[in-house]
Amino acid sequence: MTFDYKVADISLAEAGRHQIRLAEHEMPGLMSLRKEFGPTQPLKGARIAGSLHMTVQTAVLIETLTALGAEVRWASCNIFSTQDDAAAAVVVGAGTVEDPQGVPVFAWKGETLEEYWWTAQQILAWPGADTNPELGPNMILDDGGDATMLVHKGVEFEAAGAVPAADEDESEEGRIFLDVLRASLQEDPQRWTRIGASLRGVTEETTTGVHRLYQLAEQGKLLFPAINVNDSVTKSKFDNKYGIRHSLPDGINRATDVLMGGKVAVVCGYGDVGKGAAEAFRGQGSRVIVTEIDPICALQAAMDGYQVAKLESVLSQGHIFITTTGNKDVILAEHMAGMRDKAIVGNIGHFDNEIDMAGLARIPGIKKVEIKPQVHEWVLDAGTAEERSIIVLSEGRLLNLGNATGHPSFVMSNSFANQTIAQIELWTKRDQPEGEREYSNQVYVLPKILDEKVARLHLDALDVELTELSKEQADYLDLDIAGPYKPEHYRY
Ligand code: NAI
Repeated sequence: MTFDYKVADISLAEAGRHQIRLAEHEMPGLMSLRKEFGPTQPLKGARIAGSLHMTVQTAVLIETLTALGAEVRWASCNIFSTQDDAAAAVVVGAGTVEDPQGVPVFAWKGETLEEYWWTAQQILAWPGADTNPELGPNMILDDGGDATMLVHKGVEFEAAGAVPAADEDESEEGRIFLDVLRASLQEDPQRWTRIGASLRGVTEETTTGVHRLYQLAEQGKLLFPAINVNDSVTKSKFDNKYGIRHSLPDGINRATDVLMGGKVAVVCGYGDVGKGAAEAFRGQGSRVIVTEIDPICALQAAMDGYQVAKLESVLSQGHIFITTTGNKDVILAEHMAGMRDKAIVGNIGHFDNEIDMAGLARIPGIKKVEIKPQVHEWVLDAGTAEERSIIVLSEGRLLNLGNATGHPSFVMSNSFANQTIAQIELWTKRDQPEGEREYSNQVYVLPKILDEKVARLHLDALDVELTELSKEQADYLDLDIAGPYKPEHYRY
């Protein structure tokens, strides 16, 4: 079997396979789904275009999807987040380096933006689909929504017959994206229309991507049904919080090895990710200051014992600044210019627009020094008595994946069990007769009973003894003994 792929170094496959094997042990959710659904192959016929950080944990997800019958093509959703050994192992699969038998992966650590959008196109370009749309991708598994956006914008521009010129204030990434679509339109003016028509659903991993999906649905532009995996309780209340609690300090340590104890850590945003970040710093003995725009989250942070302040008020106090908002322009160049010498600045929100990197580069006289890949010192007032610098991690992109290896397997087993179940839901229910269709072109969350199932799959590994409701108790609370145990509006 030959297939196209592009990874950094295929000979890293063995190292990747060892890590994948250990990760499988830590991913009981995915492994039990393989056992439960392997024999019935519910994803047979699904051709999944996956755009999600190509890590060891994602390798276990990919091989779960194929074990359930799917065909898969994969790219990373961030230029720095690929683990090259994991990518190589997924390509090799059950084959050898000389004769790979696995899955076409298009991902390597340190892609340029042009390369990033090339990889995004590869996962949607299935062999033979140009002439036979039946062979094209029919499902997307997305993280941050770039693959979904590529298809939607492609369809929109093809319908208009042209790609608009970039606005004055368009980012470099935005310009590259428009150039990619312009070239695509010239080459094949119906490509995205064909792909859009063949897609039957998308499952989206993260807060930022989900936000984009709801916007498309509200505008009536969503081309296929979507499941919001992020808002499964067993995703956002676990991965976003406990995953960050682990992988944020991991990223800071690997990048700088600076002692966090005693330092002042400023966490921008106190949503799920911010809560995990603040707890991680507190665990290390840092003094934590939170910034928020939402009075509820601000009050939560205060009640959890953190100082809540405006960023401007604490610029000179902070040693470490981390953005977790999913918003743009949170730390501006003028903020960074006001920080203490060797302050560390990093982002763990999905996109790199939380920190104004372009503005930082424009500060007159500023000098950028590479300490090592994904760790840069920006020197202000170089050569003067005022000389000082700040350290920026992963060039403002999510540092837990750029400087470290992202969340650990056990927490990702929860997220990816949701992803797998969501793919099965959309794929197996794609052809329900009109009038009985459970999924139209809207955004859905998984039913609570499935959310509870994901949690259940992880209890044994932690020796959790779950108390069972008696019949009388269940009647008293008006519940089924088998669940679901909470109403939809319960917030955990
Ligand atoms: P969330 O919506 O729960 O939290 C974001 C918080 O930031 C909100 O409470 C909001 O009020 C606050 N905020 C917005 N603008 C602000 C500003 N200018 N200053 C201070 N606070 C502000 O979202 P969640 O789930 O915490 O996700 C945050 C980001 O992290 C998203 O982009 C998400 O996609 C990403 N994410 C990254 C992960 C990673 O591994 N690096 C894992 C999970 C999510």
